[in-house]
Amino acid sequence: MPRILITSALPYINGVKHLGNLVGSMLPADVYARFQRARGQEVLYICATDEHGTPAELAARAAGQTAEEYCTEQYEVQKRAGEAFGLSFDHFGRSSNLPNHRLTQHFAAVLEEKGLIQERADKQVYSIDDQRFLPDRYVEGTCPECGHEKARGDQCDNCGRLLDPVELINPYSTISGSRNLETRETKHLYLLQSKMQDRIAEWVDDHPDWPLLTKSIAHKWLKEGLRDRAITRDLYWGIKVEKDGRPRSGFENKVFYVWFDAPIEYLGATEEWALASPDGNRDWRSWWRLDEGAEDVRYVQFMGKDNVAFHTVSFPCTILGTEEPWKTVDTLKSLNWLTWYGGKFSTSENRGIFMDQALELLPADTWRWHLMANAPESDDASFTLEHFASVVNKDLADVLGNFVNRITRFCAARFGEAVPEGGAFGEVEDRLIADLGQRIKAYTDALEAMEFRKAFVELRAIWVAGNEYLQVAAPWTKVKQDKDAAAASVRCALNLIVLYAALSRPVIPFTADKMFAVFGLDSEAASRWPENAEQALQTLQPGHEFTPAPVLFTKVEDDQLLEWREKFGAPRADK
Ligand code: 2FM
Ligand code: ZN
Repeated sequence: MPRILITSALPYINGVKHLGNLVGSMLPADVYARFQRARGQEVLYICATDEHGTPAELAARAAGQTAEEYCTEQYEVQKRAGEAFGLSFDHFGRSSNLPNHRLTQHFAAVLEEKGLIQERADKQVYSIDDQRFLPDRYVEGTCPECGHEKARGDQCDNCGRLLDPVELINPYSTISGSRNLETRETKHLYLLQSKMQDRIAEWVDDHPDWPLLTKSIAHKWLKEGLRDRAITRDLYWGIKVEKDGRPRSGFENKVFYVWFDAPIEYLGATEEWALASPDGNRDWRSWWRLDEGAEDVRYVQFMGKDNVAFHTVSFPCTILGTEEPWKTVDTLKSLNWLTWYGGKFSTSENRGIFMDQALELLPADTWRWHLMANAPESDDASFTLEHFASVVNKDLADVLGNFVNRITRFCAARFGEAVPEGGAFGEVEDRLIADLGQRIKAYTDALEAMEFRKAFVELRAIWVAGNEYLQVAAPWTKVKQDKDAAAASVRCALNLIVLYAALSRPVIPFTADKMFAVFGLDSEAASRWPENAEQALQTLQPGHEFTPAPVLFTKVEDDQLLEWREKFGAPRADK
């Protein structure tokens, strides 16, 4: 059985992530990791904060802190937010930690040995008033493509074009606002990606099963031709540029570019995971080195579509360029954008809902369910509070929550707080089992294929099947004439709760654990993936005691919705 290595794109350190970031990488990766663990696979799910680059330096400056202080503080904030959302990382690391420093130096040194790194003189924007070069987001100006007046040095947010700061029209420093700028020549290290064109094309072609979105982005970049790119920047905060273990001459005030070191942190964080083990001795290299045991590893990456080029082209150049036997990604799941009422979620403009704010409104599982059931897979998807509230009320409160509550309360009232004995499953149960069998297979296949929307349509149908079963079996009427027959229906329905908990745990883990707790079941043991519906409905035997379920989901009321709309400045609803 292969081991499964899962990574989700590393969230930038600058502040708690919004719901769009969450559903774009960490949440689907978590659902997939939980699903595979439940199936008995050995899973290692790794993530970390992406701490270098101009976003971190600028945010630290705005907070009046040093970059180190800012990152240390924000790392804890993000770690806590992840835990509160139930993100089951095996390790959540930091790209500023030592393993990443060592590995980044290693990759740069080997790439240079292979003739893939070159020093080049480069023109950069220099601010005379700030007395420094202004890389990436340290400079803003008018986009040469679309005329947007607040384009950042690395990218125009309006038209999406990737930019070089020297291309901006009317540039100004984001530190001082000064327009007293000039271009000056300085040295930078370039990764000669153009030399890797054929190798990368061949590697991409070796992965015909990648999702369409992933493949089309990779092909677009290959078609345009891989360009050599600068992998150093004139910044203070980051991984210093060394040669043979010493500061590289002429690079004393420079660091590696954040997009060079960040993906290397996937490996770095795996090493951190090993170092964090009780004896500090777990074997991280067996997950990453093909010559040290990684042949049986299947590596799956999750990310938003803006990250795909970096993972299908740039990072593979780093890895494959070394000619060392490092593991590369097997399956790359990319997601489109989640929009805030059709517009952009924005960290810099504080638009949308952020992870910590979300949990002040409703528990994690409500968000997890809504986001995953409506994941932006084949297209961008619009988040609206109205849609969220209606999904919570219908899917979670009316369908799942009501089922669990109704049947446990009924059983407690009519048979007591133990699974009743008597009667036997008959035709109605046989039909239910046949239906569930098919649906569980479709659900499992969709999760395996990482088709989340499709998967959660099935899961919802599985919950609905329970309600429909109760309509037909009607133990509340039957109990008056044939108590044994009613007991069998109740037994079946109580077993459905346990089955639902196991099937739902990847997406709503907190609720699933509450459902298991009703029957005193240990979540880890009980959440083994149910392959066989008939067997699953025999899990609870007559006499098994339970405590009636708590209310699993409370409905969102209209006045609550209005309050939220106001609080988050929601535009007029489009749904
Ligand atoms: O786009 C982002 O949020 C980046 N911080 C993702 C980095 S992914 C990996 F390569 F580190
Ligand atoms: Zn533009």
